[in-house]
Amino acid sequence: MTDDSKKATLTFGDKELELPIFTPTEGPDVIDIRALYAKGGVFTYDPGFTSTASCDSSITYIDGGKGELLHRGYPIDQLAEKSHYLEVCYLLLYGYLPSAAQLEEFENLVTNHTMLHEQMVYFYRGFRRDAHPMAIMTGVVGAMSAFYHDSTDIHDAHAREVATIRLIAKMPTIAAWAYKFSIGQPFVYPRNDLDYASNFLRMCFAVPAEEYEVNPILSRAMDRIFTLHADHEQNASTSTVRLASSSGANPFACIAAGIACLWGPAHGGANQACLEMLKEIGTPDRIPEFIARAKDKNDPFRLMGFGHRVYKNFDPRATVMKQSADEVLELLGVENNPVLQVAKDLEAAALADPYFSEKKLFPNVDFYSGIILEAMGFPTSMFTPIFALSRTVGWISQWKEMITDPTMKIGRPRQLYAGESLRDYVNIEDR
Ligand code: CMC
Repeated sequence: MTDDSKKATLTFGDKELELPIFTPTEGPDVIDIRALYAKGGVFTYDPGFTSTASCDSSITYIDGGKGELLHRGYPIDQLAEKSHYLEVCYLLLYGYLPSAAQLEEFENLVTNHTMLHEQMVYFYRGFRRDAHPMAIMTGVVGAMSAFYHDSTDIHDAHAREVATIRLIAKMPTIAAWAYKFSIGQPFVYPRNDLDYASNFLRMCFAVPAEEYEVNPILSRAMDRIFTLHADHEQNASTSTVRLASSSGANPFACIAAGIACLWGPAHGGANQACLEMLKEIGTPDRIPEFIARAKDKNDPFRLMGFGHRVYKNFDPRATVMKQSADEVLELLGVENNPVLQVAKDLEAAALADPYFSEKKLFPNVDFYSGIILEAMGFPTSMFTPIFALSRTVGWISQWKEMITDPTMKIGRPRQLYAGESLRDYVNIEDR
């Protein structure tokens, strides 16, 4: 991808360096600064990686200006409408849409690996009764390296494949059991006659005392939520997974690191924070007060579910999510939902306000997802675990891509040191 006709020239002091330029299949050109320190003795400074490509990848592409998200070239709105989660998993993992036979084989493989090692039940029981399901998930996924030690050799392609299937297959069971434990209900075991989303719903909402019928409307909505969250190129949690795995750590440890990072309210935790914010606003007449707070530099409050590092236009996932919210609430017979009304009025008020338009702040995926999840019966504490289970395939796809990249190096950023220079130790009696 290096374009020999293009070079960047960097001049500083008495030095002049010529730097190669990469031309990607989509997106802006990338200046290759890898030799900068060796040849020029300087570092670059980019906290938050706002201008730095940390890797090359063929999985997902985002055009933030256009509001476009492509998985292996296919736009997210087409995948959300025409495909389903496990097919998107296949696409992300292997790079192409499967044939009917390949998809059936993949779905069977996933379906037949949904049970957890029975001793993991005791591991769950070690958590506090009121633990947040994300805390439980971080611990349980990390612990998979103890329960499934035979798939931790990252240099063995077969072991990597086994770990991949295990993670995708078991994540719904792990998330559902984290929920069941947090509400004191017995664990519900997976069933192989159900599809991925229906199985998850049943493990969350069934109880042994009565029959549970999966509502196909909810199952389809659940599957769409999984699909919309499946991957998002080099976001904070994916970069965390890549950085953790660059040291050679095992896949379960790396995905646990990704889950921990996702939990933060600036990232996957925003869906819980957003619904809580909409409820706190309560009625449309309080919207101006919250808009004013979001604009106030001295107030740390931000409109949750608004803004994105990459999207400077509508997040295409939010567009699908908003349509889904309307459909699901209507199909469930939930009329005049006050939270949905506050969300719609808040969106309109923010979009009409120059503060948000000038800073290009639009609703993101988390703005409407909580409304659907709550209508489906999930408590807010389950919103981020559902994001984590959906994103697992993205994390694994990026992890696999990285492991097999011959140019892969341990991730080790440099720093702009701002501390004390060399000084002598002072004995305690002299301080
Ligand atoms: N409400 C009010 N002001 C905002 C918001 C917001 N939600 N987001 C950004 N701004 C302002 C910010 O104060 C800054 O203003 P100024 O230039 O005057 O200092 C400007 O917009 C740029 O913000 P930034 O923090 O430099 O941008 P960033 O790219 O570092 O942050 C973000 C991106 C998503 C963390 C941020 O927009 C935010 O905190 N949003 C709310 C949390 C949220 O919804 N997160 C979910 C992201 S999508 C799900 C996922 O993680 O994949």
